[in-house]
Amino acid sequence: MYAPDHPTASSYDDIVDFYDTWTSMSATAQNDTEFYAEHCLHHAGPILELGVGTGRIAVNLAERGATVVGVDLSPRMLSAALRRASERGVAHRLTLCATDFSVWLPNCQPAAIYAPFHALSHLPHLGAVRSTLRLAAALLEPGGTFAFNVPHQCSEHIAELDGVEQLVTDTAAGAARLRVTVTVHADHVNRRQASTVHGTLREPQGRALLEHRWDLPLIWISTAEIENEAAVTGFEVESVAHQFSPTGALFPDEKVVVLRRR
Ligand SMILES: C[S@@+](CC[C@H](N)C(=O)[O-])C[C@H]1O[C@@H](n2cnc3c(N)ncnc32)[C@H](O)[C@@H]1O
Repeated sequence: MYAPDHPTASSYDDIVDFYDTWTSMSATAQNDTEFYAEHCLHHAGPILELGVGTGRIAVNLAERGATVVGVDLSPRMLSAALRRASERGVAHRLTLCATDFSVWLPNCQPAAIYAPFHALSHLPHLGAVRSTLRLAAALLEPGGTFAFNVPHQCSEHIAELDGVEQLVTDTAAGAARLRVTVTVHADHVNRRQASTVHGTLREPQGRALLEHRWDLPLIWISTAEIENEAAVTGFEVESVAHQFSPTGALFPDEKVVVLRRR
């Protein structure tokens, strides 16, 4: 049993130096960008990303001509996103805002909203998911869409992973060596988990330059809960899939969701 905290501003602040290498090893992160691009790029107006992180997707979409507003709790993730946008020459197409997306969203009149890579599962409970959907619904015109992906986690699914340390990356990062492991701790009673992420960046001689052990809490959200929360917040469910494109590979660990504003 564990008691995960709601992620605070510092949660992702602490992991920002590992984040891009860590996610670059993830199959999900190698396949989700095109899904969100297809979801957003045909719109003329601005698009809103919830949990924009280091701008992995937002900057890619801005490079393809989109105007993106990105919100995040973590000032250091937002700084990394701004740096990435500046390096790619698209900072003028990215507006960043520090906020808890379950509490307040900027009224940027988005044509579409998206929340990639499990951002909604970081919320502390289903009530906060509901308030996020309410805020999103208030910004969208009828027909506007909200796309996101959350882990497809449940008691049976997690059984094999529970308590086992998985090596995510052990790779040279410039002159140093980056090693990241993740250990999942399941809380079957409250249907949530903490993933303990342990990252070390070492000099070739072995001295640690950076070391951090960090708990990433995730709530489990079932398809029935998504359908129910959508219904009470003014959305209808357009699709729930385990893949990022109709012809793409299956991602049994993911729920890829598109909601449409009624
Ligand atoms: C897994 S990262 C995803 C980052 C980026 N969207 C990507 O796909 O690489 C989740 C992000 O959501 C942010 N986040 C989590 N809960 C949040 C909340 N309630 N409000 C705003 N941002 C939040 C975290 O700080 C983190 O940057």
